[in-house]
Amino acid sequence: MIYTVGGIKGGSGKTTLATNLAVYLIQQGRDVILVDADDQESATDFTSFRHQTLDGEIGYTAVKITGRELNAHVTRLATKCDDVVIDTGGRDTVSQRSAITVSDVYLVPFAPRSLDIWTLRKVENLIAEIIPFNPRLVCLTFINKADARGNYKEDTSDLLRESTVLQFLDTSIGNRISFANAASSGLGVIENKPTDEKAINEMKELYEGIRKALVNKDKGDKTTT
Ligand SMILES: Nc1ncnc2c1ncn2[C@@H]1O[C@H](COP(=O)(O)OP(=O)(O)O)[C@@H](O)[C@H]1O
Ligand SMILES: [Mg+2]
Repeated sequence: MIYTVGGIKGGSGKTTLATNLAVYLIQQGRDVILVDADDQESATDFTSFRHQTLDGEIGYTAVKITGRELNAHVTRLATKCDDVVIDTGGRDTVSQRSAITVSDVYLVPFAPRSLDIWTLRKVENLIAEIIPFNPRLVCLTFINKADARGNYKEDTSDLLRESTVLQFLDTSIGNRISFANAASSGLGVIENKPTDEKAINEMKELYEGIRKALVNKDKGDKTTT
């Protein structure tokens, strides 16, 4: 499976979700390659912290690839592992476009309050341009950094639910200090101590949501062909 975590907004939690997904997958016994496709190199920083924390036993292969040919490199890498997770930058870049032309899943997190309708439309337009080149792409969106209180989450959910291009996963990730703490040691929340069961559960539900969307897509393909 090739997963790209993207969108065109900084700070929505792309790197947090990409790195947590990579860690979640290796915990399932999968052979994972984490691709840093962002010039800011936050995923690479995460891996460096991880290297120190785990004495080199990071559990996945980390590479840095940007630019137009990213898709060719990723296609080749995907033959050598179970899953590729690509972390992209917060803009509409050549790297992000290249990544989604070869991905199975495009994951777009949104933080409540920061979401405006134009950002969503821009992501939808970006997808519309890429889909002809990659019709099997499953585009999923969900809320990251959900606050325990307030209506922001519901307002943002309603907005995302209306999208006809992105499928909304109703499995939001909370605004939890454990995500930030774990990241500063290069760990996923699933590995971090003290254990944050709620955060781990959210990651698990997100992953199940992704799996379900992929299975449904597969079924849809089989009934239409
Ligand atoms: N679910 C979350 N709970 C708490 N903090 C989060 C969460 N997701 C992201 N963050 C924090 O928000 C900041 C931006 O997240 P990051 O993953 O780097 O975003 P992006 O890659 O989209 O720019 C980081 O400091 C990160 O630790
Ligand atoms: Mg990032």
